[in-house]
Amino acid sequence: MQEANKENEINERKKRIFSAIQPSGTITLGNYLGALRNWVNLQNDYECIFAVADLHAITVRQDPKAFKKNILEAYALLLACGIDTDKSMFFIQSHVHTHAELAWLLNCYTQFGELSRMTQFKDKSQKHADNVNAGLFTYPSLMAADILLYQADLVPVGADQVQHLELTRNIAERFNGVYGKTFTVPDAYVGTVGARVMSLQNPMKKMSKSDENVNAWVAVLDKPETIIKKFKRAVTDSDSKVCIGEGKDGINNLIGIMSAVTGKTADEITEEFEGKGYGDFKNAVGEAVIEELRPIQKKFSEYIGDKAYLEEQYRKGAESALKLSQRTLDKVMKKIGYLPK
Ligand code: TYM
Repeated sequence: MQEANKENEINERKKRIFSAIQPSGTITLGNYLGALRNWVNLQNDYECIFAVADLHAITVRQDPKAFKKNILEAYALLLACGIDTDKSMFFIQSHVHTHAELAWLLNCYTQFGELSRMTQFKDKSQKHADNVNAGLFTYPSLMAADILLYQADLVPVGADQVQHLELTRNIAERFNGVYGKTFTVPDAYVGTVGARVMSLQNPMKKMSKSDENVNAWVAVLDKPETIIKKFKRAVTDSDSKVCIGEGKDGINNLIGIMSAVTGKTADEITEEFEGKGYGDFKNAVGEAVIEELRPIQKKFSEYIGDKAYLEEQYRKGAESALKLSQRTLDKVMKKIGYLPK
């Protein structure tokens, strides 16, 4: 009987989610639609754990003063987006030492060849050819450590992170294969809309905060007039019909964004803009995005003005995260054969 109860308890345990975002200055509309908005919605149905991935961020040079500010702002912005610390564990990665420790261990179970195949590594090492550091190369093992420490079942990410998730699964399976079941093997959770928001200047590339052309991305904290200006300048094609189509990457992207923020289907959007030009459509997308972001911007300014509250929240998050993750780290070290402390 007791056994049956225990089993029910396990079956009834909510699935666990882990995800994180880098605090690299600007959090974009791509981050928001591809990831953050999903995190907020998942909080009611899953046991959620979220982090500001500041250890990941130093694979590119950071100015210390700006970095410190960006970390706190990222934390406040996520709260403003709707991360609720009464429902979810939410912390800053560098405050929880188990991440760096497990990352080292996992590095020794990750192959050079696997890391060499990561498209993000290839892209970033081309972009920062003067600083192809070992951290940039081993970044995916740190990401695997983030996820595996919490025995997460699901990892909500945008499409660009799916390859890293595959590698995380391989590392977990490899470790489990050698030592017996140690890690939960996680699945990626990619939303149906907004999973790949493209650059407004080159719709063949993803929208990225590291793009030098500021018109390529919209930041969650951009002013309304800036948002409208960026959408007005969005690169489109020489056709004039607002509909999904081949060779219409710019318009396809704008329809995707419109659909993500209004909940309307692409067909409904096409019908609504029948007989209207791209100019009207771009304006409407800008307005819809402004409306979506307005309450977040307002809440952000409240949170960022209350440093004591932020500190209280990230401390609470780190304390819980350390407790939970230490269990996994201890288990892993025991299995490898380390002498107990
Ligand atoms: P980062 O900080 O680059 O992005 C955070 C999240 O935003 C998603 N995203 C996008 N989604 C749609 N369209 C876009 N244009 C777009 N740009 C970014 C990303 O897919 C991501 O979900 N390595 C991670 C951070 C990380 C992490 C983790 C994620 C560290 N540890 C553990 C999951 C689990 C990163 O650099 O994301």
